[in-house]
Amino acid sequence: MSKSLENKLALVTGSSRGIGAAIAVRLAAEGASVIVNYAASPARAEAVVAEIAKAGGHAEAVQADLGSTEGPKTLIAAIDKAFGGKFEGRLDILVNNAGTVEFGPFLESSDQSYDKHFNLNVRSLIELSKDAAKRMTKTGWGRIINIGSAFGEAAPLPGVTLYIATKFAVHGFTRALSRELGSTGVTVNGVQPGPIDTELSPDDNGPAAQTMKKLTSVGRFGKAEEIASAVAFLANPESAFINGENLTVDGGWNA
Ligand SMILES: NC(=O)c1ccc[n+]([C@@H]2O[C@H](COP(=O)([O-])OP(=O)(O)OC[C@H]3O[C@@H](n4cnc5c(N)ncnc54)[C@H](O)[C@@H]3O)[C@@H](O)[C@H]2O)c1
Repeated sequence: MSKSLENKLALVTGSSRGIGAAIAVRLAAEGASVIVNYAASPARAEAVVAEIAKAGGHAEAVQADLGSTEGPKTLIAAIDKAFGGKFEGRLDILVNNAGTVEFGPFLESSDQSYDKHFNLNVRSLIELSKDAAKRMTKTGWGRIINIGSAFGEAAPLPGVTLYIATKFAVHGFTRALSRELGSTGVTVNGVQPGPIDTELSPDDNGPAAQTMKKLTSVGRFGKAEEIASAVAFLANPESAFINGENLTVDGGWNA
């Protein structure tokens, strides 16, 4: 039986661990060839590639620090090198997943923290989307999926103001770009996770984790695989009529 994403080339940023790794594994299981981007941990990226290969899929690890000015261009340039052949000049699915957060009162935040948040969470996502959309509009099919946050349309907690500002930007960019690309066969959607058990936000039963669980209606953290399912749904060719949607997957946090 053919798989829904066979003959598609997917790039998942920051996919050596956490939500990104789960997305890479899931898209590969749907038949896509996957670029596993990482910034600093080749061993973990190679472990994701090995997991995909073991399950009969195809992936390559590509290093690029997306917090740096040249990171997005380096990554796009590396795609043809990693895959080439029938995928030369193509990129069918872009999942902008890499992101960072620093906690603390806004009035004590530094310029470095501002740059760190915005360079990775916003600037690199916008640049990659631009380069990817140029490739996708040439073939007339594409999926850009931005991993925002339940904090992309609400601010239920203090101490994450810069992060929330970036995720609202991701939410707005997703909607605006979907309108520009609407007639091209390329859809642009977002997935907005609530608390997901990863190294960024561990379900360690500490006070922060307890608070976050209480803010959901299901009373638990989500799993990275539950975000990957939402991404696979939006990437599916059958989702062509879903465009400009920010799909919140948060256990009822923002209900
Ligand atoms: N975990 C949550 O509760 C949660 C909730 C809402 C949104 N999100 C969003 O989901 C995405 C993934 O989060 P996660 O929980 O898996 O976090 P994580 O910290 O486990 O993973 C983040 C990934 O981004 C990569 N990354 C960090 N800096 C990078 C850089 N400069 N260049 C390239 N890659 C870089 C990391 O290597 C890692 O693979 C982020 O955008 C995050 O904001 C997470």
